[in-house]
Amino acid sequence: MEADEDARQGLVHGLRWGLKKSFLDYIRGMPDGRGSVGDGAVPVGTGDLFYAHDAERSGAGVWAFRGDVRFSGHFGLLFVRVANPWLEVDDSSVVVSIEDPQARTDAPRVPLVAGTLRRLGDREGTEVWGSDDVALTAAGVELFNDVYAEGEPFEPLVAQLPLGRAG
Ligand code: HEM
Repeated sequence: MEADEDARQGLVHGLRWGLKKSFLDYIRGMPDGRGSVGDGAVPVGTGDLFYAHDAERSGAGVWAFRGDVRFSGHFGLLFVRVANPWLEVDDSSVVVSIEDPQARTDAPRVPLVAGTLRRLGDREGTEVWGSDDVALTAAGVELFNDVYAEGEPFEPLVAQLPLGRAG
């Protein structure tokens, strides 16, 4: 999607991420595969997710985004929730943590993927950061039924923040 079209739709400050294309293809290929997107997340482009920037919950070293994305299939056996991702940033390292994938309240956040963060530049009063070596953490393995091993490559991500907010 072009930058001006993103802006028209209000999709400026946020996290854009394709999660894992082969997993999305797997869900799409299932007779009862379903995806739902809400609470600040919307589908964009050809299979990416956009999670809105959550300024209130962001702070030093934490870039918070909001949105609840859920996948289901295999007659209820498969349920994966990727909700309210936070980029936990330490120098050039980033860990993306999500809320409990089973949607239990009060369960701790789970570090899902990790990578190297690079500033990609500025765009129209925003700063743009990206990671293209996004890989599954040990803690994320269980979420995908142990199909992927730790270090499995996930899709690159791009975060666009108001200038000066990447504390
Ligand atoms: C009824 C139980 C299940 C059956 C019969 C089943 C079957 C399969 C099959 C046949 C594949 C290979 C698909 C392909 O290569 O095109 C696959 C891949 C996969 N399954 Fe399942 N599965 C089941 C449950 C689950 C559950 C509960 C999860 C949890 C998330 C899961 C996650 C995955 C993942 C992540 C892949 C790899 C997708 C990829 O990246 O190519 N599966 N499964």
